[in-house]
Amino acid sequence: MIMGEIMVNLKRKILIVFGTRPEAIKMTPLIKEFEKCSDFFQIKICVTAQHREMLDQVLEFFDIKPDYDLNIMRAGQDLYDVTAKILLGMRDVINDCQPDIILVHGDTATTVATAQASLYKKIPVAHIEAGLRTGNIYSPWPEEANRRLTTQISKYHFAPTQINRENLLNENIAEENIIVTGNTVIDTLFLVLEKIDNNLSAQLFKKIQKLGYGLSDNKLVLITGHRRENFGEGFLNICSALKDLAYRYPSVDFVYPVHLNPNVQKPVKKILTGINNVYLINPLDYLPFIYLLNKSYLILTDSGGVQEEAPSLGKPVIVMRDTTERPEAVEAGTVILVGTDKQKIVENVTKLLENELEYKKISYAHNPYGNGTASKKIVDFLREKLK
Ligand code: UD1
Ligand code: UDP
Repeated sequence: MIMGEIMVNLKRKILIVFGTRPEAIKMTPLIKEFEKCSDFFQIKICVTAQHREMLDQVLEFFDIKPDYDLNIMRAGQDLYDVTAKILLGMRDVINDCQPDIILVHGDTATTVATAQASLYKKIPVAHIEAGLRTGNIYSPWPEEANRRLTTQISKYHFAPTQINRENLLNENIAEENIIVTGNTVIDTLFLVLEKIDNNLSAQLFKKIQKLGYGLSDNKLVLITGHRRENFGEGFLNICSALKDLAYRYPSVDFVYPVHLNPNVQKPVKKILTGINNVYLINPLDYLPFIYLLNKSYLILTDSGGVQEEAPSLGKPVIVMRDTTERPEAVEAGTVILVGTDKQKIVENVTKLLENELEYKKISYAHNPYGNGTASKKIVDFLREKLK
Protein backbone atom coordinates (compact mmCIF):
# COMPACT_ATOMS: atom_id res chain seq x y z
CA MET A 1 0.00 0.00 0.00
CA ILE A 2 2.71 2.45 1.08
CA MET A 3 4.89 1.32 -1.83
CA GLY A 4 1.94 1.99 -4.17
CA GLU A 5 1.54 5.52 -2.85
CA ILE A 6 5.25 6.23 -3.28
CA MET A 7 5.06 4.97 -6.87
CA VAL A 8 2.13 7.30 -7.56
CA ASN A 9 3.99 10.22 -6.06
CA LEU A 10 6.99 9.60 -8.29
CA LYS A 11 4.79 9.91 -11.34
CA ARG A 12 4.50 13.19 -13.19
CA LYS A 13 1.08 14.66 -12.60
CA ILE A 14 -0.46 16.09 -15.76
CA LEU A 15 -3.59 18.22 -15.64
CA ILE A 16 -5.41 18.25 -19.00
CA VAL A 17 -7.90 21.09 -19.35
CA PHE A 18 -10.51 21.69 -22.06
CA GLY A 19 -14.03 22.98 -22.39
CA THR A 20 -15.45 23.07 -25.92
CA ARG A 21 -16.44 20.42 -28.46
CA PRO A 22 -13.37 20.75 -30.71
CA GLU A 23 -10.95 20.77 -27.77
CA ALA A 24 -12.53 17.56 -26.47
CA ILE A 25 -12.28 15.92 -29.90
CA LYS A 26 -8.63 16.95 -30.21
CA MET A 27 -7.57 16.11 -26.60
CA THR A 28 -9.18 12.65 -26.65
CA PRO A 29 -6.40 10.75 -28.46
CA LEU A 30 -3.86 12.41 -26.19
CA ILE A 31 -5.72 11.21 -23.09
CA LYS A 32 -5.78 7.69 -24.55
CA GLU A 33 -2.04 7.89 -25.25
CA PHE A 34 -1.22 9.13 -21.71
CA GLU A 35 -3.31 6.26 -20.33
CA LYS A 36 -0.93 3.84 -22.07
CA CYS A 37 1.96 5.35 -20.08
CA SER A 38 0.53 5.09 -16.58
CA ASP A 39 3.93 3.88 -15.33
CA PHE A 40 5.25 7.45 -15.69
CA PHE A 41 2.25 9.80 -15.87
CA GLN A 42 -0.68 10.32 -13.58
CA ILE A 43 -3.33 12.23 -15.51
CA LYS A 44 -6.14 14.36 -14.19
CA ILE A 45 -8.81 15.77 -16.47
CA CYS A 46 -10.60 19.06 -15.92
CA VAL A 47 -13.44 20.26 -18.13
CA THR A 48 -14.49 23.87 -17.81
CA ALA A 49 -17.71 22.93 -19.67
CA GLN A 50 -17.58 26.17 -21.61
CA HIS A 51 -19.79 24.03 -23.85
CA ARG A 52 -22.21 21.63 -22.20
CA GLU A 53 -24.31 19.44 -24.51
CA MET A 54 -21.75 19.69 -27.32
CA LEU A 55 -18.95 18.72 -24.93
CA ASP A 56 -20.88 15.93 -23.22
CA GLN A 57 -21.59 14.31 -26.61
CA VAL A 58 -17.84 13.86 -27.06
CA LEU A 59 -17.10 12.79 -23.46
CA GLU A 60 -19.78 10.16 -23.64
CA PHE A 61 -18.77 8.82 -27.03
CA PHE A 62 -15.11 8.43 -26.03
CA ASP A 63 -15.92 7.37 -22.46
CA ILE A 64 -13.95 10.15 -20.79
CA LYS A 65 -14.71 10.82 -17.13
CA PRO A 66 -13.38 14.18 -15.92
CA ASP A 67 -11.93 14.54 -12.43
CA TYR A 68 -13.07 18.17 -12.29
CA ASP A 69 -16.00 19.89 -13.98
CA LEU A 70 -16.37 23.67 -13.62
CA ASN A 71 -19.79 23.54 -15.31
CA ILE A 72 -19.64 27.19 -16.39
CA MET A 73 -21.91 27.20 -19.46
CA ARG A 74 -24.94 29.49 -19.34
CA ALA A 75 -27.03 30.35 -22.38
CA GLY A 76 -25.69 33.28 -24.36
CA GLN A 77 -23.14 34.49 -21.79
CA ASP A 78 -20.41 36.84 -22.96
CA LEU A 79 -16.62 36.55 -23.03
CA TYR A 80 -16.20 38.38 -19.70
CA ASP A 81 -18.47 35.90 -17.91
CA VAL A 82 -16.80 32.89 -19.48
CA THR A 83 -13.23 34.05 -18.88
CA ALA A 84 -13.76 35.22 -15.29
CA LYS A 85 -15.51 31.98 -14.30
CA ILE A 86 -12.72 29.84 -15.78
CA LEU A 87 -9.96 31.86 -14.13
CA LEU A 88 -11.57 31.58 -10.68
CA GLY A 89 -12.54 27.94 -11.16
CA MET A 90 -9.05 26.96 -12.25
CA ARG A 91 -7.52 28.58 -9.15
CA ASP A 92 -9.33 26.03 -6.99
CA VAL A 93 -8.66 23.10 -9.33
CA ILE A 94 -4.93 23.83 -9.44
CA ASN A 95 -4.81 24.20 -5.65
CA ASP A 96 -6.49 20.85 -5.24
CA CYS A 97 -4.65 18.97 -7.99
CA GLN A 98 -1.11 20.37 -7.58
CA PRO A 99 -0.04 19.28 -11.09
CA ASP A 100 3.55 19.25 -12.39
CA ILE A 101 2.36 20.60 -15.72
CA ILE A 102 -0.90 21.78 -17.29
CA LEU A 103 -1.93 20.97 -20.87
CA VAL A 104 -4.18 23.30 -22.83
CA HIS A 105 -5.33 23.21 -26.43
CA GLY A 106 -5.73 25.78 -29.17
CA ASP A 107 -7.29 29.18 -28.75
CA THR A 108 -10.52 29.26 -26.78
CA ALA A 109 -11.43 31.20 -23.63
CA THR A 110 -10.74 27.96 -21.75
CA THR A 111 -7.21 27.86 -23.20
CA VAL A 112 -6.16 31.40 -22.39
CA ALA A 113 -7.85 31.65 -18.98
CA THR A 114 -6.34 28.31 -17.91
CA ALA A 115 -2.91 29.41 -19.09
CA GLN A 116 -3.29 32.58 -17.03
CA ALA A 117 -4.44 30.63 -13.97
CA SER A 118 -1.37 28.38 -14.36
CA LEU A 119 0.92 31.39 -14.62
CA TYR A 120 -0.37 32.75 -11.32
CA LYS A 121 0.63 29.46 -9.66
CA LYS A 122 3.89 29.26 -11.66
CA ILE A 123 2.89 25.87 -13.08
CA PRO A 124 4.39 25.25 -16.54
CA VAL A 125 1.97 25.09 -19.46
CA ALA A 126 2.23 22.85 -22.53
CA HIS A 127 0.27 24.15 -25.51
CA ILE A 128 -1.23 21.68 -27.99
CA GLU A 129 -2.00 23.08 -31.46
CA ALA A 130 0.43 25.96 -31.05
CA GLY A 131 1.66 28.46 -33.61
CA LEU A 132 -1.44 28.95 -35.77
CA ARG A 133 -1.63 32.57 -36.87
CA THR A 134 -3.58 34.84 -39.19
CA GLY A 135 -1.71 37.99 -38.19
CA ASN A 136 -4.98 39.83 -37.48
CA ILE A 137 -6.11 39.91 -33.83
CA TYR A 138 -9.71 40.52 -34.88
CA SER A 139 -9.88 37.53 -37.23
CA PRO A 140 -10.71 35.05 -35.90
CA TRP A 141 -11.86 36.97 -32.87
CA PRO A 142 -10.94 36.48 -30.07
CA GLU A 143 -9.03 33.28 -31.00
CA GLU A 144 -5.99 34.90 -32.66
CA ALA A 145 -5.31 36.91 -29.49
CA ASN A 146 -6.04 33.90 -27.25
CA ARG A 147 -3.42 31.74 -28.93
CA ARG A 148 -0.80 34.51 -29.02
CA LEU A 149 -1.25 35.13 -25.29
CA THR A 150 -1.12 31.40 -24.57
CA THR A 151 2.15 31.11 -26.51
CA GLN A 152 3.71 33.78 -24.31
CA ILE A 153 2.78 31.91 -21.14
CA SER A 154 3.57 28.36 -22.34
CA LYS A 155 6.79 26.45 -21.83
CA TYR A 156 6.30 23.71 -24.43
CA HIS A 157 4.73 24.22 -27.85
CA PHE A 158 3.27 21.41 -29.98
CA ALA A 159 3.01 22.76 -33.52
CA PRO A 160 0.82 20.81 -35.97
CA THR A 161 2.82 21.88 -39.05
CA GLN A 162 6.16 23.31 -40.11
CA ILE A 163 4.49 26.65 -40.88
CA ASN A 164 3.18 26.76 -37.30
CA ARG A 165 6.69 26.08 -36.01
CA GLU A 166 8.11 28.92 -38.08
CA ASN A 167 5.45 31.28 -36.70
CA LEU A 168 6.65 30.43 -33.20
CA LEU A 169 10.33 30.85 -34.08
CA ASN A 170 9.49 34.27 -35.53
CA GLU A 171 8.12 35.16 -32.09
CA ASN A 172 11.43 34.11 -30.48
CA ILE A 173 10.17 30.91 -28.88
CA ALA A 174 13.13 28.66 -28.02
CA GLU A 175 13.65 26.01 -30.70
CA GLU A 176 14.20 23.19 -28.21
CA ASN A 177 10.75 23.73 -26.72
CA ILE A 178 8.85 23.34 -30.02
CA ILE A 179 8.12 20.14 -31.90
CA VAL A 180 6.11 19.55 -35.04
CA THR A 181 3.56 16.83 -34.30
CA GLY A 182 0.75 16.98 -36.83
CA ASN A 183 -2.71 17.78 -35.50
CA THR A 184 -4.28 15.44 -32.96
CA VAL A 185 -7.60 15.87 -34.83
CA ILE A 186 -6.21 13.49 -37.45
CA ASP A 187 -5.42 10.93 -34.71
CA THR A 188 -9.09 11.13 -33.69
CA LEU A 189 -10.31 11.00 -37.27
CA PHE A 190 -8.33 7.84 -37.99
CA LEU A 191 -9.58 6.31 -34.75
CA VAL A 192 -13.22 6.71 -35.77
CA LEU A 193 -12.83 6.01 -39.49
CA GLU A 194 -11.77 2.51 -38.50
CA LYS A 195 -15.11 2.10 -36.72
CA ILE A 196 -17.33 3.19 -39.60
CA ASP A 197 -17.70 -0.18 -41.26
CA ASN A 198 -20.82 -1.31 -43.09
CA ASN A 199 -22.71 -2.45 -39.99
CA LEU A 200 -22.18 0.82 -38.26
CA SER A 201 -23.17 2.73 -41.41
CA ALA A 202 -26.73 1.42 -41.03
CA GLN A 203 -26.83 2.56 -37.39
CA LEU A 204 -25.45 5.98 -38.25
CA PHE A 205 -27.91 6.35 -41.08
CA LYS A 206 -30.75 5.76 -38.59
CA LYS A 207 -29.31 8.23 -36.11
CA ILE A 208 -29.07 10.98 -38.71
CA GLN A 209 -32.55 10.15 -40.01
CA LYS A 210 -33.94 10.55 -36.49
CA LEU A 211 -32.52 14.07 -36.42
CA GLY A 212 -34.41 14.94 -39.57
CA TYR A 213 -32.25 14.08 -42.58
CA GLY A 214 -32.83 10.85 -44.48
CA LEU A 215 -29.77 10.28 -46.66
CA SER A 216 -30.56 10.14 -50.37
CA ASP A 217 -28.62 9.77 -53.62
CA ASN A 218 -28.64 13.53 -54.08
CA LYS A 219 -25.41 15.50 -53.90
CA LEU A 220 -24.88 16.60 -50.30
CA VAL A 221 -23.56 20.01 -49.27
CA LEU A 222 -22.67 20.00 -45.55
CA ILE A 223 -22.64 23.31 -43.72
CA THR A 224 -21.31 24.39 -40.30
CA GLY A 225 -20.70 27.87 -38.91
CA HIS A 226 -20.27 29.60 -35.59
CA ARG A 227 -17.50 32.26 -35.67
CA ARG A 228 -18.13 35.30 -33.49
CA GLU A 229 -16.78 37.74 -36.10
CA ASN A 230 -19.49 36.48 -38.50
CA PHE A 231 -22.39 37.25 -36.11
CA GLY A 232 -24.87 39.72 -37.55
CA GLU A 233 -24.21 40.68 -41.16
CA GLY A 234 -21.89 37.73 -41.88
CA PHE A 235 -24.50 35.13 -40.92
CA LEU A 236 -27.26 37.00 -42.75
CA ASN A 237 -25.13 36.88 -45.91
CA ILE A 238 -24.28 33.21 -45.45
CA CYS A 239 -27.95 32.26 -44.94
CA SER A 240 -29.08 34.38 -47.86
CA ALA A 241 -26.51 32.67 -50.12
CA LEU A 242 -27.67 29.24 -48.92
CA LYS A 243 -31.29 30.15 -49.61
CA ASP A 244 -30.50 31.18 -53.20
CA LEU A 245 -28.44 28.05 -53.76
CA ALA A 246 -31.13 25.77 -52.35
CA TYR A 247 -33.75 27.20 -54.72
CA ARG A 248 -31.35 27.08 -57.66
CA TYR A 249 -30.41 23.42 -57.02
CA PRO A 250 -33.54 21.60 -55.80
CA SER A 251 -31.91 18.18 -56.27
CA VAL A 252 -28.98 19.01 -53.98
CA ASP A 253 -29.39 18.40 -50.23
CA PHE A 254 -28.11 21.22 -48.01
CA VAL A 255 -27.56 19.79 -44.52
CA TYR A 256 -26.72 22.13 -41.66
CA PRO A 257 -26.15 20.85 -38.09
CA VAL A 258 -26.70 24.20 -36.38
CA HIS A 259 -24.33 25.27 -33.56
CA LEU A 260 -26.24 25.89 -30.30
CA ASN A 261 -25.10 29.50 -29.93
CA PRO A 262 -28.27 31.65 -30.03
CA ASN A 263 -26.46 34.17 -32.27
CA VAL A 264 -26.24 31.38 -34.84
CA GLN A 265 -29.58 29.65 -34.21
CA LYS A 266 -31.68 32.80 -34.67
CA PRO A 267 -30.65 33.94 -38.18
CA VAL A 268 -30.24 30.40 -39.50
CA LYS A 269 -33.70 29.29 -38.39
CA LYS A 270 -35.34 32.54 -39.42
CA ILE A 271 -33.98 32.52 -42.98
CA LEU A 272 -33.67 28.83 -43.79
CA THR A 273 -36.62 27.09 -42.15
CA GLY A 274 -39.24 25.70 -44.54
CA ILE A 275 -37.05 25.19 -47.63
CA ASN A 276 -37.59 21.63 -48.88
CA ASN A 277 -33.98 20.70 -49.57
CA VAL A 278 -32.43 22.52 -46.56
CA TYR A 279 -32.13 20.30 -43.49
CA LEU A 280 -31.49 22.20 -40.25
CA ILE A 281 -30.56 19.62 -37.63
CA ASN A 282 -29.07 19.63 -34.12
CA PRO A 283 -25.28 19.38 -33.73
CA LEU A 284 -24.34 15.81 -34.54
CA ASP A 285 -22.34 13.43 -32.40
CA TYR A 286 -18.80 13.14 -33.69
CA LEU A 287 -19.20 9.77 -35.38
CA PRO A 288 -22.34 10.59 -37.41
CA PHE A 289 -20.78 13.94 -38.27
CA ILE A 290 -17.68 12.28 -39.73
CA TYR A 291 -19.92 9.80 -41.54
CA LEU A 292 -21.81 12.70 -43.13
CA LEU A 293 -18.59 14.56 -43.89
CA ASN A 294 -17.41 11.50 -45.75
CA LYS A 295 -20.67 11.31 -47.69
CA SER A 296 -20.59 14.99 -48.64
CA TYR A 297 -19.85 16.34 -52.07
CA LEU A 298 -18.80 19.71 -50.74
CA ILE A 299 -18.43 21.46 -47.37
CA LEU A 300 -19.22 25.04 -46.48
CA THR A 301 -17.84 26.09 -43.12
CA ASP A 302 -16.11 28.64 -40.92
CA SER A 303 -14.88 25.92 -38.54
CA GLY A 304 -11.21 25.30 -37.84
CA GLY A 305 -11.43 21.57 -37.18
CA VAL A 306 -13.51 20.83 -40.26
CA GLN A 307 -10.85 22.54 -42.43
CA GLU A 308 -8.36 20.01 -41.05
CA GLU A 309 -10.52 16.90 -41.35
CA ALA A 310 -11.92 17.46 -44.84
CA PRO A 311 -8.60 17.32 -46.78
CA SER A 312 -7.90 13.87 -45.29
CA LEU A 313 -11.19 12.72 -46.77
CA GLY A 314 -10.57 14.40 -50.13
CA LYS A 315 -13.49 16.81 -49.70
CA PRO A 316 -13.35 20.38 -51.03
CA VAL A 317 -14.08 23.04 -48.42
CA ILE A 318 -15.36 26.54 -49.04
CA VAL A 319 -14.35 28.58 -46.01
CA MET A 320 -16.68 31.43 -45.09
CA ARG A 321 -14.01 33.55 -43.42
CA ASP A 322 -11.72 36.36 -44.55
CA THR A 323 -8.58 34.80 -43.08
CA THR A 324 -7.37 31.36 -42.15
CA GLU A 325 -4.65 30.23 -39.78
CA ARG A 326 -4.56 26.98 -41.75
CA PRO A 327 -2.93 27.92 -45.07
CA GLU A 328 -1.63 24.40 -45.79
CA ALA A 329 -4.83 23.11 -47.40
CA VAL A 330 -5.46 26.43 -49.20
CA GLU A 331 -2.08 26.03 -50.89
CA ALA A 332 -2.98 22.48 -51.90
CA GLY A 333 -6.28 23.74 -53.37
CA THR A 334 -8.82 21.73 -51.34
CA VAL A 335 -9.69 24.72 -49.16
CA ILE A 336 -11.03 27.87 -50.83
CA LEU A 337 -11.26 31.04 -48.77
CA VAL A 338 -14.28 33.14 -49.78
CA GLY A 339 -15.31 35.22 -46.75
CA THR A 340 -18.97 36.00 -46.09
CA ASP A 341 -19.75 37.90 -49.28
CA LYS A 342 -23.01 36.43 -50.59
CA GLN A 343 -22.05 36.63 -54.25
CA LYS A 344 -18.70 34.92 -53.71
CA ILE A 345 -20.26 32.06 -51.77
CA VAL A 346 -22.89 31.51 -54.49
CA GLU A 347 -20.31 31.70 -57.30
CA ASN A 348 -17.90 29.24 -55.71
CA VAL A 349 -20.55 26.68 -54.78
CA THR A 350 -22.07 26.97 -58.27
CA LYS A 351 -18.68 26.41 -59.89
CA LEU A 352 -18.06 23.22 -57.90
CA LEU A 353 -21.59 21.90 -58.38
CA GLU A 354 -21.58 22.47 -62.13
CA ASN A 355 -18.01 22.07 -63.27
CA GLU A 356 -16.95 18.45 -62.79
CA LEU A 357 -13.41 19.12 -64.00
CA GLU A 358 -12.89 21.95 -61.55
CA TYR A 359 -14.29 19.73 -58.79
CA LYS A 360 -12.04 16.79 -59.60
CA LYS A 361 -8.97 19.03 -59.67
CA ILE A 362 -9.31 19.85 -55.99
CA SER A 363 -11.05 16.81 -54.49
CA TYR A 364 -8.25 14.46 -53.63
CA ALA A 365 -7.20 13.12 -50.25
CA HIS A 366 -4.06 14.47 -48.65
CA ASN A 367 -2.89 14.97 -45.09
CA PRO A 368 -1.26 18.35 -44.47
CA TYR A 369 -2.24 18.00 -40.80
CA GLY A 370 -0.49 14.76 -40.01
CA ASN A 371 -0.65 10.99 -40.16
CA GLY A 372 -2.37 10.16 -36.91
CA THR A 373 0.71 10.05 -34.65
CA ALA A 374 0.56 13.53 -33.09
CA SER A 375 -0.50 12.33 -29.64
CA LYS A 376 2.30 9.79 -29.42
CA LYS A 377 4.86 12.45 -30.38
CA ILE A 378 3.53 14.78 -27.67
CA VAL A 379 3.60 12.11 -24.96
CA ASP A 380 7.11 10.94 -25.94
CA PHE A 381 8.38 14.52 -25.89
CA LEU A 382 6.93 15.22 -22.44
CA ARG A 383 8.29 11.95 -21.08
CA GLU A 384 11.76 13.03 -22.13
CA LYS A 385 11.43 16.60 -20.84
CA LEU A 386 9.89 15.65 -17.48
CA LYS A 387 12.36 12.82 -16.70
C1 UD1 B 1 -16.30 28.58 -28.67
C2 UD1 B 1 -14.88 29.15 -28.80
C3 UD1 B 1 -14.40 29.06 -30.23
C4 UD1 B 1 -14.54 27.65 -30.77
C5 UD1 B 1 -15.99 27.19 -30.60
C6 UD1 B 1 -16.15 25.76 -31.06
C7 UD1 B 1 -14.21 31.03 -27.37
C8 UD1 B 1 -14.14 32.50 -27.20
N1 UD1 B 1 -14.88 30.56 -28.43
O1 UD1 B 1 -17.18 29.43 -29.40
O2 UD1 B 1 -13.03 29.44 -30.28
O3 UD1 B 1 -14.19 27.65 -32.14
O4 UD1 B 1 -16.33 27.27 -29.21
O5 UD1 B 1 -17.49 25.42 -31.24
O6 UD1 B 1 -13.67 30.32 -26.57
N2 UD1 B 1 -24.08 26.63 -26.32
C9 UD1 B 1 -25.00 25.73 -25.80
N3 UD1 B 1 -24.58 24.43 -25.61
C10 UD1 B 1 -23.33 24.00 -25.91
C11 UD1 B 1 -22.42 24.93 -26.46
C12 UD1 B 1 -22.81 26.24 -26.64
O7 UD1 B 1 -26.14 26.06 -25.53
O8 UD1 B 1 -23.03 22.83 -25.70
C13 UD1 B 1 -24.51 28.05 -26.53
C14 UD1 B 1 -24.66 28.80 -25.20
O9 UD1 B 1 -25.71 29.71 -25.31
C15 UD1 B 1 -23.31 29.51 -25.08
C16 UD1 B 1 -23.09 29.89 -26.52
O10 UD1 B 1 -23.52 28.74 -27.27
O11 UD1 B 1 -23.36 30.61 -24.21
C17 UD1 B 1 -21.70 30.28 -26.91
O12 UD1 B 1 -20.73 29.36 -26.44
P1 UD1 B 1 -19.20 29.87 -26.28
O13 UD1 B 1 -18.36 28.74 -25.81
O14 UD1 B 1 -19.15 31.14 -25.51
O15 UD1 B 1 -18.79 30.27 -27.77
P2 UD1 B 1 -18.74 29.47 -29.11
O16 UD1 B 1 -19.31 30.36 -30.16
O17 UD1 B 1 -19.30 28.13 -28.94
N1 UDP C 1 -18.40 18.43 -35.29
C1 UDP C 1 -19.27 17.51 -34.69
N2 UDP C 1 -20.63 17.65 -34.87
C2 UDP C 1 -21.16 18.66 -35.62
C3 UDP C 1 -20.27 19.61 -36.21
C4 UDP C 1 -18.90 19.45 -36.02
O1 UDP C 1 -18.83 16.58 -34.01
O2 UDP C 1 -22.39 18.72 -35.75
C5 UDP C 1 -16.94 18.29 -35.07
C6 UDP C 1 -16.07 18.33 -36.30
O3 UDP C 1 -15.85 17.04 -36.81
C7 UDP C 1 -14.77 18.98 -35.78
C8 UDP C 1 -15.24 19.85 -34.63
O4 UDP C 1 -16.56 19.42 -34.30
O5 UDP C 1 -13.88 18.01 -35.26
C9 UDP C 1 -15.24 21.30 -35.02
O6 UDP C 1 -15.87 22.04 -34.04
P1 UDP C 1 -16.30 23.54 -34.24
O7 UDP C 1 -16.55 23.81 -35.69
O8 UDP C 1 -17.42 23.80 -33.28
O9 UDP C 1 -15.06 24.38 -33.70
P2 UDP C 1 -13.69 24.88 -34.36
O10 UDP C 1 -12.99 23.71 -34.93
O11 UDP C 1 -14.05 25.93 -35.36
O12 UDP C 1 -12.96 25.48 -33.20
